[in-house]
Parts: sequence; C-alpha cells; structure tokens
Amino acid sequence: MAINPYLKLYCMLFVGAAIAGCSEKPVVKADYGIIPLPKTIVANSENSFIIKDGTTIVFPENNPGMQRNAEFLASYLKEQTGLKLKTKAGEPRDGAICLTLDLQNDNTEAYSLKSDKNRITIAGTSEAGVFYGIQALRKSAGVAEDSQIEIPAAEINDAPRFAYRGMHLDVARHFFTIDEVKTYIDMLALHNINRFHWHLSDDQGWRIEIKKYPKLTSVGSKRAETVVGMWNSGVYDGTPYGGFYTQEEAKEIVNYATERYITVIPEIDLPGHMQAAITAYPELGCTGGPYEVWETWGVSDQVLCAGNDSTLQFIKDVLAEIIEIFPSEYIHIGGDECPKTEWEKCPKCQARIKALGLTSDSKHTKEQRLQSFVINTAEQFVNSKGRKIIGWTEIMEGGLSPNATLMSWIGESGGIEAAQMHHDVIMTPMDYMYFNFYQAKDTEKEPLAIGGYVPMEKVYGFEPVPEVLNEEERTYIKGVQANLWTEYIQTFPLIQYMALPRMAALAEVQWCDPSQKNYQDFLKRLPRLTALYKHLGWTYAKHVLPEEAAAEPDSIRKALR
Ligand code: ACM
Ligand code: ZN
Repeated sequence: MAINPYLKLYCMLFVGAAIAGCSEKPVVKADYGIIPLPKTIVANSENSFIIKDGTTIVFPENNPGMQRNAEFLASYLKEQTGLKLKTKAGEPRDGAICLTLDLQNDNTEAYSLKSDKNRITIAGTSEAGVFYGIQALRKSAGVAEDSQIEIPAAEINDAPRFAYRGMHLDVARHFFTIDEVKTYIDMLALHNINRFHWHLSDDQGWRIEIKKYPKLTSVGSKRAETVVGMWNSGVYDGTPYGGFYTQEEAKEIVNYATERYITVIPEIDLPGHMQAAITAYPELGCTGGPYEVWETWGVSDQVLCAGNDSTLQFIKDVLAEIIEIFPSEYIHIGGDECPKTEWEKCPKCQARIKALGLTSDSKHTKEQRLQSFVINTAEQFVNSKGRKIIGWTEIMEGGLSPNATLMSWIGESGGIEAAQMHHDVIMTPMDYMYFNFYQAKDTEKEPLAIGGYVPMEKVYGFEPVPEVLNEEERTYIKGVQANLWTEYIQTFPLIQYMALPRMAALAEVQWCDPSQKNYQDFLKRLPRLTALYKHLGWTYAKHVLPEEAAAEPDSIRKALR
C-alpha cells in the first residue's frame, strides 16, 4: 500500500471526519501473465505507474474509434477496480495512459504496451491493435475492487498469429436475445476474437427478418413444441417456441460488434437445413409440403428444391437483404448436411440435372453436382455484390466453387484438400472445436449435451496448420474457429458454461505462436481470467479448472466438481 506523503500530512492536519475522505485506496499490482499470452514481455518490477482515480486516458484528436477505445478502457477499469478515470483528446503526456496509432508493424492488429513510472503508452498499427492493447492492460489489472493498480514498468510487443479468429453461435435451435448476443460479443472481445459467425437459420427456426419473404419470420421462426431430452426421446414439451431479430436489431448487433473490432459473419444455411423456410413457403420444397418447423434435432431430408427457378430467386433475394444488413466480406452460405433423397425423386430436380448435363462418376453423384450448381449460383450472386462466400466442408461436394473459402468441420481433411487447391480455409474440426460437445468425461454429472468429448486440454493442443501442407499451401489456413450449436443449450448461462473456459484455450490457439504454448503455464494463468468471468457475472465450468475453489457450488452442473 503506497501512501502519498502530502496526503498523509494533509490528513494529520485535518483529523476527524476528514480522515476517511483522505485515505487512499490500497494498491494492487498488475500481472502480465494474461490470456492470450503476449508475444514478448520485458518487465521490470521497479518504476511502476499507478493508475488511480482521476488518471487520464489521452487519445488522438478527431478519432472517434480511439475515443471509444479510451472510453472502453475507462469503463473496464471502473468495472474491475472501481477507479474513475478521465478520457481526453490530446497529445501523449506524462501522468497519463496514452493511446496512439504510432506503431509500425506489418500486422494490422499489432500493439505495443510500454509503461514506466511516468506514463503508460498503448500504441497500435490500427484502432483494433490499440483495442487488443487495452484488453491486455485490462486483463493485467485483473479484478481489484476499490483499489489502485500498480502497473510495473514493462515493454510488451504483441500481434496475433491468425487474422481470422472466430467463434460461432447457433441461434436457430435456441434463440438468444439481443442483450445475450451482446454479452456473447463481450466474451469474444475479452478473448481477442475478431469474427462472430452468426448461424441465423435452420430446420428448427428462421431467425432474421427478410422483408421480401415475411412468412420466413411470421411462420418460420415458430415451432409448435420442442423435443425433450435426446432427439429421439419421443417426448415433446407442448410449448410453442420462437423468436427472431428484426433487420434493425441485427444492425444493432453489427454496430456493437464493429465497435469491438469484431466482424459479424451471417450464415444462411442452404440448400439443406431449410425446413423452417419451406414451412413458410412450401413451394420452395421438392414435395410442396405441407411441412412443419422441425420440433426435434438432426438432419432433415426436406431441403430446398434445386429444380425450381423460384428457389434460385429466393436464394438471391434473401442473400441480397443479408448483404445489406451485414457489411462482412464473407457471407456464410452453409452447404452442410444436405440429403439428396428428395432430389433423387423430384421431377424438377431431375429435369434440372438433365438440362445442366450433370452426370455421376466415381467422384460425385449427379445430385452432388446439383448441390454444387446451387452453391455456385449463390457464389456468383454474392461475388456480384463484391462479397465472398464461405461454406462448410460439404461445399466441396460436386467440386468447389471458384472463389469459395472452406470451413473445415468434418475433421481437417477437407481443409487440407482445399488448401492444396489454393482455397482459403478456416479450421474448425469438430473433434477439437465443437464446444457443444462434453467438456468432462463424467457425462452423468454434466448437463445433457449432443455427445462427443472436447476437454479444454484438447482445444488447447489443436494445431490448425496441418503438417502435410507445404509452405505455400500453409498460407491458405487463414484462421481457426470454435462452434457452439444449441440443440441442447436452452439458456444463456448454459451457453457460457459450454464456452468458458474453453474459449480461453481457443484464444491461445488463435493468437499465440506454437512455440509460446504450454498447457501447464496456461493453467497457471487461467484463474485470473476466470476471476474476471466471475466478477462480470458470467457462468463458466469450474470443475475443469485445476485450482478453483472446489467447494463452490456450480449451479449448472449437477454436482460439485
Ligand atoms: C455442422 O456441424 N453441420 C457444420
Ligand atoms: Zn426438387
């Protein structure tokens, strides 16, 4: 605890009630052992800067992004320490925390954090870089209620390994409110994640307003009831379920994410996973219906009819509105799990196959080639609007569209093949990156999940760049993402429980160089981050941590540890 000598004197002179007002807050020392671990930290425990009430954060004039960054830092520190900082436009100066854009580095998200007793300077190559420096300072400060923070003299230089650092959320199987989605984005920001993949449509619900097709939400966003327990239990809850986002609400999410340097990538899953859409517009399905918004989980055979011209128009119309809402370069068009059973029987689909001259060979069936035709149609439209498609592994079926980026979820092999064909790849293999899989072995004690086993250590150990790729091919691996499918995740606390702390392990896979990674060291750094989760009121899985208070009841899990 450091007491300013002048304050001491002042307090001695004005005894009594004045003393309470004069006593300084205790000083808590920051710790740079954060997650994700910065590339280089050179620290010196002498010569610290003290962040206290009234410390000013200065930012460059006429730069709203940097002003917002300054305000974020002030609000984070207020939340974590109770300290009231000021923000002010102006030149860097002593006594202040200075945010600048002065850093020279080829990586557009790089930052440096330099501190000594006179000032703290966070410099970025961009506003985003400064934001990551702010996250680093905030995590170093940790949770220290009603305290001043001692920032040891240090020089940190840091930049991410991957430009695409993603986290997905399925809002189709279960719906999450705008406020919950914002909290999810806050979770991403804390972990330096910069892509939010928003899965907006599926068999069990259509969740985004499309003005040209109002029944997508008036009909397609509602299911009559939901299966209880596993998908095949045969038991249903008898309770109608629904929800969707207006275009204005979706734009609000885009803005909220953009302020935190996160790009929202919308997904409209096509031509499969479309049962909710064809319930609303049965003429878009092969049989013409009637259909129902699906009440259980799995892969529906009822998909868009690829032989129907109005289906192709529907795809373009929907994507046109999506492109207007979401400025992201990538538009995710799904492409996964599209059974071909209806297409094999449907006269319109077969007529299209014939008209296009599609044939089966040893590599692909003619129906797989028809899927490729649908994906190509979507790609050409998206490209015509200056955007790019990204799709799941199965967009390789029938041949990969010319400019498509592949999201490799059925293991890494699709990603490897796509990289060898010089297509960009995002790695998200389910054995490592599906956070809807169980995180503990003793599944009896876990909330019901879809299955699988992805413990935090497995997430941490994932190496996204396969060794079989040569040096050039490796450059096509643009990033890593984890996915959170919500068939068995009904509430937001359960979302957080499944995501945290695995998201911390993901953050080091996305950000750190392999040479920096060490699981035991990561585990030592983790409790300071989970203390922040706790302080922010976020639910997280406690029993997967080595040290956390064993006796603390876990409201989500069915038992202690
Ligand atoms: C997927 O998990 N169906 C992409
Ligand atoms: Zn058809």
